[in-house]
Amino acid sequence: MGGSNEYEYKKPSRLQNPTRSKLKILLLLLSTNLFSIYLFSHGIKLPAVFIGGSDVLLQELNSTQSQLSHSRAELAQLHRHLSTAEDLLETLLSELGRKFGDHNADDKWPGEIDGELKLAVGPHKLPLGYNHNLGTDELFPTLGAACRRFQPEVANYMTYKVGGECPSDEVFAQRLMLKGCEPLPRRRCHPKSPKGYVEPAPLPGSLWATPPDSSVVWDAYTCKNYTCLINRGLKKWNYDCNDCFDLKGREKSRWLVDSGSGGLDFGIDSVLATRPRGTVRIGLDIGGGSGTFAARMRERNVTVVSSTMNFDGPFNSFIASRGLVPLHISVAHRLPFFDNTLDIVHSMHVLSNWVPAATLEFALFDIYRVLRPGGLFWLDHFFCTGDQLNATYVPMLEGIGFNKLRWATGRKVDRGAVKNEWYLSALLEKPIT
Ligand SMILES: *[C@@H]1O[C@H](CO)[C@@H](O)[C@H](O)[C@H]1NC(C)=O
Ligand SMILES: *[C@@H]1O[C@H](CO)[C@@H](O)[C@H](O)[C@H]1NC(C)=O
Ligand SMILES: *[C@@H]1O[C@H](CO)[C@@H](O)[C@H](O)[C@H]1NC(C)=O
Ligand SMILES: *[C@@H]1O[C@H](CO)[C@@H](O)[C@H](O)[C@H]1NC(C)=O
Repeated sequence: MGGSNEYEYKKPSRLQNPTRSKLKILLLLLSTNLFSIYLFSHGIKLPAVFIGGSDVLLQELNSTQSQLSHSRAELAQLHRHLSTAEDLLETLLSELGRKFGDHNADDKWPGEIDGELKLAVGPHKLPLGYNHNLGTDELFPTLGAACRRFQPEVANYMTYKVGGECPSDEVFAQRLMLKGCEPLPRRRCHPKSPKGYVEPAPLPGSLWATPPDSSVVWDAYTCKNYTCLINRGLKKWNYDCNDCFDLKGREKSRWLVDSGSGGLDFGIDSVLATRPRGTVRIGLDIGGGSGTFAARMRERNVTVVSSTMNFDGPFNSFIASRGLVPLHISVAHRLPFFDNTLDIVHSMHVLSNWVPAATLEFALFDIYRVLRPGGLFWLDHFFCTGDQLNATYVPMLEGIGFNKLRWATGRKVDRGAVKNEWYLSALLEKPIT
């Protein structure tokens, strides 16, 4: 722990859940009864004040006194037993709660939670096979208080020298974020600075320049330079944003060509052409990869913020080096924009069937929320299996309330596609009321 005691993690008070309160009342009843039974069976007598003289009285008092002190001792022991029992019961309850998915037990909500709130608290299970680099089987919706669920990890994360250099534990920190501990609570240290930092290239050249390796702290990554990042994408599928660090490769042509009616590839210019000229000015690219969508939009005088985590690569640093705005948030994060503000939201590959359904629906409603009336949602190459498409995702999307401007589905045939995998590309519009 850094600094003074007041910043130390406070253990929340116990026994607030109603189930527990009921059990506590039960225990209380039980202990009161035990006490009565005890008094009765030990035959504690009242002093015989009116029976004899003062000697008799004193003797009686004396004996009563000793009996009472004896009783007191036994009572104290009984109390100790009871409190041990209560502790055991407490432990048992929280274990049971964990076993049966009652995460409330650890959330310390003042009362029972249900309905929307319970859903918002989560967590939501990831489909099998999607947890290989996430370090969790479940996604937790973002909730400031969620850090409380992982107190030992958070305590570990918060162990640093105040004012000193922060530990290099980026992967660990991002796993905490995915568990809903977002924003992270670390506030008083300096991140490690890249060695031999050189200032970025000036705009507009920086948009398409691979940044120098010395602009990044590589500790958290297997690759230690951009050459490695670019090459690994060509060799092996399975990385986030496989080939997107290669600005001279496929990135160069993305979103420039429209595949036309029925095709999955929409072009940026044809999308912008659906609005009056110049009225698409600000936006967000969810899971923005290396920032190329934002770069292309910038060339069209549109300011786009790219949200991304740093899985398998320094995405945030790369985007920033290009002169674009990275936003380090998870897909579970409520978008940090106000209602009815953005002209366009784009997302390619990231919002797909790996996101738990409840989390995905939250994200879609959130996109609707931050878009201004008449704003565009470009869902680009959403992927899922053929049966999921019609059974789950089309109804979910249609339930959000967008107007459809363009809609295309097609079999996924690219590298890494699994059996019966489909793509959906859609251009949706938030209605003007
Ligand atoms: C009271 O009990 C104590 C021992 O417990 C004894 O020493 C004392 O004499 C007793 N007093 C009377 C009045 O019986
Ligand atoms: C790039 O990093 C890899 C390992 O990540 C290393 O093997 C290689 O030598 C590095 N290349 C340069 C040019 O630094
Ligand atoms: C972007 O803005 C600049 C300066 O206002 C202007 O000269 C340029 O033509 C604009 N580019 C596009 C593609 O609209
Ligand atoms: C989904 O439903 C539409 C219309 O009912 C149908 O044409 C299409 O083939 C279905 N798609 C898949 C992938 O099953």
